[in-house]
Order: sequence, then C-alpha cells, then structure tokens
Amino acid sequence: MTEEEKEKKPPSPRLSVDEVTNLDNVDILELCETTRVAILAHEGFNWLTPPAEKTLESFWKSVFIIPERTLIIARMEGQIAGCCQLVRPPKNNEAGAFRGNIETFFLAPWARGHNLAKTMLRKAEDVARAQGCRTLECHMASDQQAAIAICEWIGMDRWGIKERYARINDVFVPGYYYSKDLD
Ligand SMILES: CC(C)(COP(=O)(O)OP(=O)(O)OC[C@H]1O[C@@H](n2cnc3c(N)ncnc32)[C@H](O)[C@@H]1OP(=O)(O)O)[C@@H](O)C(=O)NCCC(=O)NCCS
Repeated sequence: MTEEEKEKKPPSPRLSVDEVTNLDNVDILELCETTRVAILAHEGFNWLTPPAEKTLESFWKSVFIIPERTLIIARMEGQIAGCCQLVRPPKNNEAGAFRGNIETFFLAPWARGHNLAKTMLRKAEDVARAQGCRTLECHMASDQQAAIAICEWIGMDRWGIKERYARINDVFVPGYYYSKDLD
C-alpha cells in the first residue's frame, strides 16, 4: 500500500467484547435499539416483529437475574453493537449440566465484518471453559451463512438438521445444530 493509500484508509473502529454483569439505562436502550434493527433485518433470534420497548427492556434486564445466563457485549466506538449469551441448563438438569449453549448471538448490520462476532464466540468459549462446560452448543436457521461460517471456524461440528426449525411467513425453515467438545 502506498503512503497516499494509507492516508486515505479510514482509521480502524474502536472495538471491544466483554462479559458484563450489569448494564446502565443508556446501555439497555442501545441494546434494545440494536435488537430492533436486527429484528427488522429479519435476523432477530426468533422475533419476527419488534416487540414493545418495555418488553425488550424487560427481556434484556431479566438476563441479569437468571444465574444460568452470561451476557457478552460487543461495542463499536463505545456503542453496543450486538451480543451473545452463554446459557447453562437449569439447576434441575443435573445430567445436562456439562453443556453451555450460545443464544441471542447477533450483531447490528453496521457492525459486521470487523471480526466482532468471532471475538464474541471465542469469549463465550473461554467463559464456558471457565464455568466448567464440557460441550459448547449452538443452533441457527440454515440460511444464516455468517453464523454457520463462524461456528465452523471455531471448530464446531454440525450434528443435526431440523426441518421444522422456524416458521416464517407460513414457510418452515430448517435449522442446523452445532456442537464442540471442550475437553
Ligand atoms: C452471525 C453474525 C453475528 C456474524 O457477524 P459478522 O460480522 O457478519 O461476521 P463476519 O463478517 O466476521 O463473518 C464471519 C464469517 O462468515 C462469512 N460470511 C459472512 N456472510 C457470509 C455468507 N453470506 N455466506 C458465506 N459466508 C459468509 C465471512 O466471510 C466470515 O468468514 P471469514 O472471516 O473466514 O471471511 C451476524 O451475521 C448476525 O448478526 N447475523 C444474524 C443473526 C444470526 O444469524 N445469529 C446467529 C444465531 S446462532
């Protein structure tokens, strides 16, 4: 790259990925807005239309009162750009206690292509290991190519396909099930 090209290249955005144990009101509003953008782009982890603001706020706030859930937040230029959760089975599921499941894994379209998703998934794997998980699992609709590429990049294997994973506009969409042994 020439000096002139280097000067023209926009600076890399400031990125961060962190496990969080609380969010202030501004963060919650940003997370809700980012979620709404994802839902409107038809990538809103099971929501097909954005719910009321209060419903979204309660959804995200409830994450912190459920001990089995760990929230990982991605930021770009300080603004919340997406997240994922590591979810452990409930306490009564002793036989399944070795598992950690990835849920609500998404990035706003404006934050994609900066490796934030890979960093989030790597962080989720580190947290899963630290919590003693022996297996990491994830599932997604079969048309989510980026999510599929990232799960395979981190070493997950597709172990199953469910033909009736989701129903969107009266059409069944298949889903892929991935898992990785951590031991
Ligand atoms: C999944 C998601 C978080 C990934 O974020 P992202 O910023 O798009 O990820 P990246 O741009 O780093 O792309 C990840 C990989 O997928 C690949 N990819 C992206 N779009 C692709 C497509 N349409 N087809 C094939 N591969 C694709 C990229 O090339 C990249 O691989 P590489 O790093 O080896 O080049 C984001 O796309 C998203 O929010 N999707 C909607 C919600 C969703 O599917 N969640 C997952 C449920 S488990």
